[in-house]
Amino acid sequence: MKHFLKLLDVSKEEIIELLDLADLLKSYVKEGKPHPFLQGKTLGMIFEKSSTRTRVSFETGMYQLGGHALFISAKDSQVGRGEPTEDTARVLSRYLDGIMIRTFDQEEVEKLAQYGSIPIINGLTDFCHPCQVMADLQTIREHKGKLEGLKMCFIGDGNNMANSLIVGGLKVGMQVAVACPKDYAPDQKVLDFAAAYGDQFLLTDSPMEAAKGADVVITDVWASMGQEEEQKIREVAFAGYQVNAELMAQTNPGCMIQHCLPAHRGEEITADVFEAHADEIFDEAENRLHAQKAILVKLMGGRK
Ligand code: CP
Ligand code: NVA
Repeated sequence: MKHFLKLLDVSKEEIIELLDLADLLKSYVKEGKPHPFLQGKTLGMIFEKSSTRTRVSFETGMYQLGGHALFISAKDSQVGRGEPTEDTARVLSRYLDGIMIRTFDQEEVEKLAQYGSIPIINGLTDFCHPCQVMADLQTIREHKGKLEGLKMCFIGDGNNMANSLIVGGLKVGMQVAVACPKDYAPDQKVLDFAAAYGDQFLLTDSPMEAAKGADVVITDVWASMGQEEEQKIREVAFAGYQVNAELMAQTNPGCMIQHCLPAHRGEEITADVFEAHADEIFDEAENRLHAQKAILVKLMGGRK
């Protein structure tokens, strides 16, 4: 594994290996055991969109691994003034040991990997959010003791989260059911990938159908970053695509909820359901740190 650009590129075995390493690194933090696997290494973090969790968890993760993280805001660097990605990639490869990038176009991330000579990690694009889904899988496995055979249900926009959850969930052997309004389906590339999984995957416009027998329900905002001006239109399109008590009544006993956050209570999830599952959701947020440290160690630490 040279880069972490999208889950379509990562095998089931690599996902499981990363989850095992994430659990180990989490145990080191809990035991207070130093683990400076990236001593002397620097990660550049390019942000073209806002972030709380991704920025803080990557920066803290690098510190805990004995390395250094450098925040590069697009608007304060030449990235935001249109310097070609091909050049940014080759310049930053001369200074850094790895790059994490959050941007709009997946092509930009792929181009960094193509032109640079250091590992590139996708910290969210319009297409996918693979680091988040690694944290989600870690959290589900922690709470349920397994992944294979469980049913994952995603309710809402067929966005970057839906795309990564479908690929990650299917690869690790979960049943995946997605309920989206017809005009907001996941990316066609992802649907083509899922088609090979037959009955293991369901795409429907009925949230109740998708939630039936679910072991974990996942949702995300109706308007992602960059879609703020569509908020009102989306509120109409997604009415009914809410994770609430009625929807949860369709699921298996002990069904978990995951939300990548930030959450909009009263839109994609009700406040009462969110609070009833807050421990699982904040475990998920914490696991961003551990799952990403596993990715950093695997890509930058010589543990190929
Ligand atoms: N879930 C997530 O990626 O959060 P941030 O946007 O705060 O990084
Ligand atoms: N789908 C959301 C996820 C935020 C972490 C967005 O792209 O804004």
